[in-house]
Amino acid sequence: MLLPRLSLGFWHNFGSVDPYERSREITRYAFDHGVTHFDLANNYGPVYGSAEETMGRLMDDTFRPYRDELFIATKAGYDMWPGPYGNWGSRKYLMASLDQSLRRMHLDYVDLFYSHRYDPNTPLEETLQALVDIVRQGKALYVGISRWPLEATKCAFEYLKQHDVPLLIYQGRLNMIDRAPQEEGIMDFCADNGVGFISFSPLAQGLLTDRYLNGIPKESRMAKGKFLKESMLTDELLAKIRQWNAEAQAKEMTLAEYALRWILEQRGVTSVLVGASSTAQLEKNLHCVL
Ligand SMILES: NC(=O)c1ccc[n+]([C@@H]2O[C@H](COP(=O)([O-])OP(=O)(O)OC[C@H]3O[C@@H](n4cnc5c(N)ncnc54)[C@H](OP(=O)(O)O)[C@@H]3O)[C@@H](O)[C@H]2O)c1
Repeated sequence: MLLPRLSLGFWHNFGSVDPYERSREITRYAFDHGVTHFDLANNYGPVYGSAEETMGRLMDDTFRPYRDELFIATKAGYDMWPGPYGNWGSRKYLMASLDQSLRRMHLDYVDLFYSHRYDPNTPLEETLQALVDIVRQGKALYVGISRWPLEATKCAFEYLKQHDVPLLIYQGRLNMIDRAPQEEGIMDFCADNGVGFISFSPLAQGLLTDRYLNGIPKESRMAKGKFLKESMLTDELLAKIRQWNAEAQAKEMTLAEYALRWILEQRGVTSVLVGASSTAQLEKNLHCVL
């Protein structure tokens, strides 16, 4: 499976709180520039589910003729609806959630379905067999896992291989600030076993751009404050970011381009999965693959 080196994520900026026209402009620009892979999850929004509804609207007014040129992923694993069957990794949750996702996105199938996180309470075989059966049902073409620890990843790889549904890809956070998947051996395991690796939050939610070099802009993710907290921008980190920015400038790149290129050079990386709140940001980020 060939993925573009840069993929587009719908975690922020594509919910019902965001202007639909802007979502459409960004995704059209992306597709026109070779970004064939859109990454969603059941709970992206806000509100939960609404990023998938945006995808459904986009299918209807833009992308339906291009369905076979697009690679659309979704996930389940975090809290989606109340009670024990709307969270984690049970067969009951994964199956019901994917059905809901397909309805919201106006799709018959997704290209890739992920277990969004490792569940320490559900037997691994149950989660993995649900992934196998989802493929057998034709509701997803491929499966992946996200944020699973190494030992569980090895089990997933073996189980899925034995059931003729290979583990296509691992989604983890790798960027110049957070190198955990490298340090934990996940990336080497993926590279050694032919499993793809896609890096989420490659710009550390905007920290690895010029966004916060001179304060916190009013409309930025940090100003909105839920997932990117002001407390993360310590003096020490800001000094590092300024240093990287100087290195980027010396190479006539933006910091964003520099940070994305760094990821793409790491062993085993298939694609960087960026977010964007404007077409201009995406345009800048695409320089990393030019
Ligand atoms: N598997 C998981 O558990 C998981 C977790 C998180 C994310 N993800 C996936 O990864 C995707 C990307 O995550 P992310 O949104 O955190 O990625 P990111 O690329 O690290 O951050 C995107 C944000 O950075 C800012 N930005 C991007 N390009 C910029 C530029 N050129 N100049 C200045 N600012 C720029 C924008 O923030 P402003 O809003 O401030 O403009 C944008 O919304 C998500 O959409 C999702 O699909 C998966």
